[in-house]
Amino acid sequence: MKTIDSIVLTGDRPTGRLHLGHFVGSIKNRLKLQEENKTNYYMIADVQALTDNAENPEKVRSNVLEVALDNIACGLDPAKTTFFIQSQIPEIAELTIFFLNLVTLARLKRNPTVKNEMKQKGYDEDVPAGFLCYPVSQAADILFAKANTIPVGEDQLPVIEQANEIVEKFNRIYGETFKKINPVVSESSRLVGIDGNAKMSKSLGNAIYLSDSREEIEKKVRDMYTDPNHIRVEDPGTVEGNVVFDYLTIFDPMQDEVEELKNKYRAGGLGDMALKQRLTDVLDVFISPIRERREYLAKDPKQIMQILEDGTKKARIVAAETLREVKRNMKIEYF
Ligand code: TRP
Repeated sequence: MKTIDSIVLTGDRPTGRLHLGHFVGSIKNRLKLQEENKTNYYMIADVQALTDNAENPEKVRSNVLEVALDNIACGLDPAKTTFFIQSQIPEIAELTIFFLNLVTLARLKRNPTVKNEMKQKGYDEDVPAGFLCYPVSQAADILFAKANTIPVGEDQLPVIEQANEIVEKFNRIYGETFKKINPVVSESSRLVGIDGNAKMSKSLGNAIYLSDSREEIEKKVRDMYTDPNHIRVEDPGTVEGNVVFDYLTIFDPMQDEVEELKNKYRAGGLGDMALKQRLTDVLDVFISPIRERREYLAKDPKQIMQILEDGTKKARIVAAETLREVKRNMKIEYF
């Protein structure tokens, strides 16, 4: 069943390999939406990645291939989804310039996602202007394609909200041009890091990657935060806030067994070692097909670059059409 009028668009910043948090928060929804909708776009947001990596062009460049590999290995299918690179669509930059007139500096500084990231990165007033404005360019990322269904992690909701303010203002001033944008957030809450931190993130060093080997998974699960008061096997343990149980609840296909394990753990008599062994197996079963496909695909990087080039050409055709309409509506179409 393909919904005709929904246009799906999503993307990643190429700043590192993707991890389980990305899968739970967004990739899972991408895969589902790809099957339900006719028009799907996947963008590698290299321009956005450069907003806080201007001095690390090599890092951004090398991760373009990595995030493409991660997504294709997970099942995002270039035959169903148009893959493209943000920097190669100049219309996105043009649209960003027009949208910047519809947004105040005060509003940009209030965006909770940006505020949070600024704090994390230690920016204050010395934030790169491009970084502060990335929600505006993200609105352009979405609207050049007239996309309205956006699978994102829940941290991105304020960015989509700001994009919708731009849609409203643009339509009010220049006439009906864009549709309201609907974010699609996964029903399960965000995935905690292996250290119990609220968010799994590369910069916090608490992530399990979609390309991790069994040995890496094993080591990370061994380091996972459990119940610090659960010292001997016989001791009663706490399930809430216990990262191993959080992960089993999300990834273990045998949820009735997980329920039993929770009861046993609470009562005492179930050791962390046994539990971690089970989680290692569960995660390895989940990751190994992705890892293997990834390794296979990585042998032919030219083929991946060809997918990106073909998709970028398709996206540019759509972008040119949208920009013609936008300029006509803005009365800056002259010749
Ligand atoms: N900001 C998004 C993230 O960090 C990535 C992104 C850039 C994006 N442009 C987008 C996501 C457009 C959805 C739609 O995850």
